[in-house]
Amino acid sequence: MAATIGGISVGLGIPCSTKLSKRFSSSRSSRVRMAVTVEEKKNFTLKKSEEAFNAAKELMPGGVNSPVRAFKSVGGQPIVIDSVKGSHMWDIDGNEYIDYVGSWGPAIIGHADDEVLAALAETMKKGTSFGAPCLLENTLAEMVISAVPSIEMVRFVNSGTEACMGVLRLARAFTGRERIIKFEGCYHGHADPFLVKAGSGVATLGLPDSPGVPKGATYETLTAPYNDISAVENLFESQKGEIAAIILEPVVGNSGFIAPKLEFLDAIRKITKENGTLLIFDEVMTGFRLSYGGAQEYFGITPDLTTLGKIIGGGLPVGAYGGRREIMEMVAPAGPMYQAGTLSGNPLAMTAGIHTLKRLKEPGSYEYLDKITKKLIQGILDAGKKAGHAICGGYISGMFGFFFTDGPVYNFEDAKKSDAAKFARFHRGMLEEGVYFAPSQFEAGFTSLAHTSEDIQRTIAAAEKVFQQI
Ligand SMILES: Cc1ncc(COP(=O)(O)O)c(C=O)c1O
Repeated sequence: MAATIGGISVGLGIPCSTKLSKRFSSSRSSRVRMAVTVEEKKNFTLKKSEEAFNAAKELMPGGVNSPVRAFKSVGGQPIVIDSVKGSHMWDIDGNEYIDYVGSWGPAIIGHADDEVLAALAETMKKGTSFGAPCLLENTLAEMVISAVPSIEMVRFVNSGTEACMGVLRLARAFTGRERIIKFEGCYHGHADPFLVKAGSGVATLGLPDSPGVPKGATYETLTAPYNDISAVENLFESQKGEIAAIILEPVVGNSGFIAPKLEFLDAIRKITKENGTLLIFDEVMTGFRLSYGGAQEYFGITPDLTTLGKIIGGGLPVGAYGGRREIMEMVAPAGPMYQAGTLSGNPLAMTAGIHTLKRLKEPGSYEYLDKITKKLIQGILDAGKKAGHAICGGYISGMFGFFFTDGPVYNFEDAKKSDAAKFARFHRGMLEEGVYFAPSQFEAGFTSLAHTSEDIQRTIAAAEKVFQQI
């Protein structure tokens, strides 16, 4: 069935069984579904992936350039990707998957969108990097500033990690204090001060912290359980006048999907204001995903500073931090806080970001994400319960997750009660059914405007089958 986004028909569901045709399959007005035939399914093999991954292990640590990709927490053979388009991806063995990772968030309008690719081709004719100001930076900055309530000025960088490093230095520079509070299970990139109880890949590998991080680097980092305001109050009580900032994921994605209690967000806004502490929303994942103005618009709570990444680069490497003008004017060269980047504001990354945001701004985008994600998570939870599993989960807009536990899950300790071994069996089963979820229990899932009702139905049908087997 076709759905309509801003008058545009998506998900026409024209079956097509040859791999070749995928190259032409995802024009905006007719995203074409690929059919996985029974015969293809029987032949599910990861032989080429295995060969490539074995070779990679000799070349790169663990065979990857980012740890969770190695499937350590779910076991089994990682898949090596050949191409992506719309809501689907193909591995080098020719297996096709409905993708709920979306390159870990950026692919919110679908992978390799035709308009983004065309815009990139145009920009590329003028060069790939200027290392000097360009108009595209102004355009994306204006879009970000007008969308995100807390941002009056923005600095573009190259990754979410860089954005979080920059924002931390800025918060310390502005307040003249050094202590920060972060929450257990929240991930703010891999910079030293944040590698304390950092969820996601760190948890997946069973490393509470990382060797190589000097004690001094995390000495000023205080932690509290997510959604626990009394723990935060205790820290403020014992560290009076010392806390520069609280940083958090306004919806956690790096311990699996965990929604905040509204009263928790309200209370940390209040306590930070009362104590001259800056509130930082790390919206690298939630920015432009929960709503066009991010989690802060969705919940109606405005932080002092915000970090962004993923979606604003439309699949190219980007991060950003921004906030109130008086704070941002501390950043060099306007002010004394130093931060720089050779490729920052890169014209290709700016182009992909601009065209991704343009599409998201069209009426109906977030309603569509809400509709399909709700259907997906309800279908998964119903199927899991029907098969007798303890399972709980939730979603907001195009972000979702589920745990193999009865729940409720309010923080990382609750999340760890999930049956990770069962998740691993579920993950492998779904992969064989042509559905790709993040290879860790401690990661959120993502939908996109390119996911069709057909994709969702096929995913639920696959889950019904796999839940019977695990
Ligand atoms: C909330 C959050 N902050 C920061 C980061 C780090 O971003 P990057 O991987 O681009 O360095 C991530 C990455 O997933 C994230 O989810």
